[in-house]
Amino acid sequence: MDFNEHTAAQAVQDSFRNTPDARLRDLLDALTRHLHAFVRETKPSIKEWEEAIGFLTAVGQACTDTRQEFVLLSDVLGVSMLVETLNEHEGGTESTVLGPFHMVESPQRALGDTIDLVGEAEPCVVSGRVLDTDGAPLPNAEVDVWQCDENGFYDVQRPGVQPAGNGRGLFHTDTEGRFNFRTVIPSHYPIPTDGPIGRLLEATGRHPYRPAHIHFIVRADGHTPLTTHVFVAGSPYLDSDAVFAVKQSLIVDFTESNDKEAASRNNVQAPFRHAEFDLVLSREADR
Ligand code: BEZ
Ligand code: FE
Repeated sequence: MDFNEHTAAQAVQDSFRNTPDARLRDLLDALTRHLHAFVRETKPSIKEWEEAIGFLTAVGQACTDTRQEFVLLSDVLGVSMLVETLNEHEGGTESTVLGPFHMVESPQRALGDTIDLVGEAEPCVVSGRVLDTDGAPLPNAEVDVWQCDENGFYDVQRPGVQPAGNGRGLFHTDTEGRFNFRTVIPSHYPIPTDGPIGRLLEATGRHPYRPAHIHFIVRADGHTPLTTHVFVAGSPYLDSDAVFAVKQSLIVDFTESNDKEAASRNNVQAPFRHAEFDLVLSREADR
């Protein structure tokens, strides 16, 4: 069979026909069909194709032990969120992207502790319960939290300015499935723009900002781990997140409180901000 624009995709699909792993064969078959359809539709010039290869090469070269530019590419193309959404669990809290800043282990902390090791911004109390999909509390669930500070930087972005572990904590729920900790309200912030993904955003007139959020990974025995965020209601960019990760159900009010009794119960000065929400895990068998 001659290799031409009409036979090319089939020739490549046929070359994968004997792949022993059926899933791998299906993935390569679909990849070939879609990639060839894209090339037939867009008809890149040789120069454009070289530029495309050059861009992907730069994405790979920007990756280090602490930076994953390919994940960032998947994020800004909405693919990370699409994969998350297709793997969602019925009835549980909605999931969203992991992001690149969970690169260090969160320090173990006791319930009620602060994750704000700087103490320069208005205090904020975050509390809630970890529940199963029937509403039953999950005691001793692991609640791993990380966030940027009130200026929009994670501790790992400003070593020497923020103490290591600032904005991070690993908590365990009490016998009623409750968690609570003190922090500051995180700011909205730009994703890293000093590499090829930054140049892509610039060339396409897109902004690099993410709305303010706190990251969570929640784990409990017998339940599917949940990776999600809680977004700060009213934050800029909730309707134009650079990585498409906002789900309406994850937007939470961080209300202002002047309640002196609640402040002293939570070990903060009034006025303080308070966010309260539950995190719901689906059972492993529910999948
Ligand atoms: C984050 O929320 O930490 C994040 C997610 C995706 C890309 C960049 C940052
Ligand atoms: Fe983040």
